[in-house]
Amino acid sequence: MKTLIYSSKDFEIPFLENENSGFHELKFIPERLTTHTAYMAIGFEAVSIFSADDASSNVLEKLKDFGVKHITLRSAGYDNVNLRAAKRLKIKVANAPDYSPNAVAEHAVALLQTLNRKITLSRKQTQNYNFTLSNLVGFDLVGKTVGIIGTGKIGSVIVQIMNGYGCDVLATDPFKNKDLIEANSVKYVDVTLLCEQSDIIFLSVPLNKDTYQCIDKSKLDLMKKNTLLINVARGAVVHTQDVVDSVITNQIAGYATDVYDKESGVFFYDRSKDQPQDVALKILLNHDRILLTPHQAFATQEALQNIAKTTISNLKHWQEGQEPKTTLHPFEVIFE
Ligand code: NAI
Repeated sequence: MKTLIYSSKDFEIPFLENENSGFHELKFIPERLTTHTAYMAIGFEAVSIFSADDASSNVLEKLKDFGVKHITLRSAGYDNVNLRAAKRLKIKVANAPDYSPNAVAEHAVALLQTLNRKITLSRKQTQNYNFTLSNLVGFDLVGKTVGIIGTGKIGSVIVQIMNGYGCDVLATDPFKNKDLIEANSVKYVDVTLLCEQSDIIFLSVPLNKDTYQCIDKSKLDLMKKNTLLINVARGAVVHTQDVVDSVITNQIAGYATDVYDKESGVFFYDRSKDQPQDVALKILLNHDRILLTPHQAFATQEALQNIAKTTISNLKHWQEGQEPKTTLHPFEVIFE
């Protein structure tokens, strides 16, 4: 199937090419899918996109006009695709739902420990031959209460890792995972109680109408002063300014995030010579108790291999007139 791979990055191309073995005709372009770049799909039956691509209704209309029939996401999240519009336009959409929950969960815990044990500050200081410890005191994880908002594939792995550290785990999710309750002693509580009682809070929910800015001032005000908030979900799951304010005013102790609500067009690019004029981003990058990574939680060898496998398999299914089991249906959309 002739496929245009939008937002393709040098580190993922070898995995996709290797998995494809010349079966489909793939064209890799670095451009994001937007209303301005949709025309590049002229002559392609399928396109592949990532989290920063825009597959809103307008863009889908254009893709349809240009003859595109299939969209395969190289991501688990699909908040950037208007599935209702895709259905109306008869464009089939599939994602890569479980390429490596471990990759993301392990990165979430890396963020936690980097923030807690002040690793970036430690490196900065030691590079200046300052070997003092006054600024580097963290806390033990054992015995702490961890709150996990969203215990799906990624959240479940976070539960297991934090169990290993000897933490007590609280969780909030409309779907209560019995295995986690039985095997990991997870206690499901409402989000208010979770915010009030947790020392560490992980966000691992999809972005939808219920989770959009679900962590705002009202929730931050419930949290303990020592709380560390870790976000590997999507930037807009938090109200960024409220979170920044709560760290600056010591309402919470710190924020570590792999995602940013205004990351589109910034993350995944070298913007060192063309720095964005974005005050909130500047604070996220420079505050000692805030840590930001550029949406890299998925970036492991294993995850890239699995994303490539699912992407090529999705295309193969469509080519053979079958529906991939990763097909997304509009009833799953709650954010438009
Ligand atoms: P999943 O679908 O397996 O789990 C999501 C869980 O969140 C489900 O159990 C669902 O019931 C729950 N949930 C939905 N609404 C909720 C609410 N209002 N409150 C509490 N829980 C709620 O998804 P998975 O694979 O665990 O991924 C979660 C999200 O992580 C993705 O949608 C994506 O946005 C993000 N992600 C980020 C990556 C990164 O590189 N930073 C990589 C992969 C995913």
